[in-house]
Amino acid sequence: MIETVTELAALRARVAQWRREGLRVALVPTMGNLHDGHFSLVRLARTHADRVIASVFVNPTQFGPNEDFAQYPRTPEADAHGLEAAGCDAVWLPSVATMYPYGVEATVRVQVPAVSETLEGAHRPGHFDGVATVVSRLFNQVQPDVAVFGRKDYQQLAVIRYLVRDLAFPIEVIGADIVREGSGLAMSSRNQYLSAPEREQAAQIHRCLQAMREAAQAGRPRGAIEAEAHERLAAAGFVPDYAVIRGLDLTVPADGEGGARVALIAARLGRTRLIDNLEFEA
Ligand code: PAF
Repeated sequence: MIETVTELAALRARVAQWRREGLRVALVPTMGNLHDGHFSLVRLARTHADRVIASVFVNPTQFGPNEDFAQYPRTPEADAHGLEAAGCDAVWLPSVATMYPYGVEATVRVQVPAVSETLEGAHRPGHFDGVATVVSRLFNQVQPDVAVFGRKDYQQLAVIRYLVRDLAFPIEVIGADIVREGSGLAMSSRNQYLSAPEREQAAQIHRCLQAMREAAQAGRPRGAIEAEAHERLAAAGFVPDYAVIRGLDLTVPADGEGGARVALIAARLGRTRLIDNLEFEA
């Protein structure tokens, strides 16, 4: 039976007991409303640790004032069942007061420079400060050996890797592959905002990423590929925020040079904002 922990002292006691037993502990941070993508993170965590804790916390500091914090779906019972079935040992369910004892406005903030400011950071100012702030707290609260994050949030993973190295958290960060529906649509809690026709349309994002990869591998210039991707998304009914090709560290690659690349898209479809990416060798 999965254990639900809501008090920091109880969390610390549980993890301390596992450590006394010599067990390796993995953390899977989430905001709940879990789907197969999250459960695959738990299953991956299991292969790297003896015990797995998932945290479920809808983090107010990473939502902008006009974003969906209040509406973000909260499904604690279904989450606990799914986590248990995926092999999770405990769920860490802190309150906002436990996470931010001085209150959200007066909290110590963690800011990762440069990588936080581009792409998602430019469209969602302060978002990655909120992510870095809460992930630092989760790391201090749980003190895991390993933490697993999805590669779907590519830039978030880059921010967390920077944070772990710079603040010397003794934690191994593992990026888990994107889980897709049969149509190619990347799994996301926000997919449930899509109507049935929008859901079909949303699969175009993955096809657009594949087309960007093929064009890059055929040697087309990056600027032209990005412009075409933008047009293609707009023609398919999206409002694109960006459709870009970057190096794996998210810097702009020089034209004519090969190497590891990532194509990233963020686009709105109706009231839903979707992000996705595809890593490849050019
Ligand atoms: O990816 C998410 O669900 C969140 O950004 C995270 C990492 C749990 C921090 O709130």
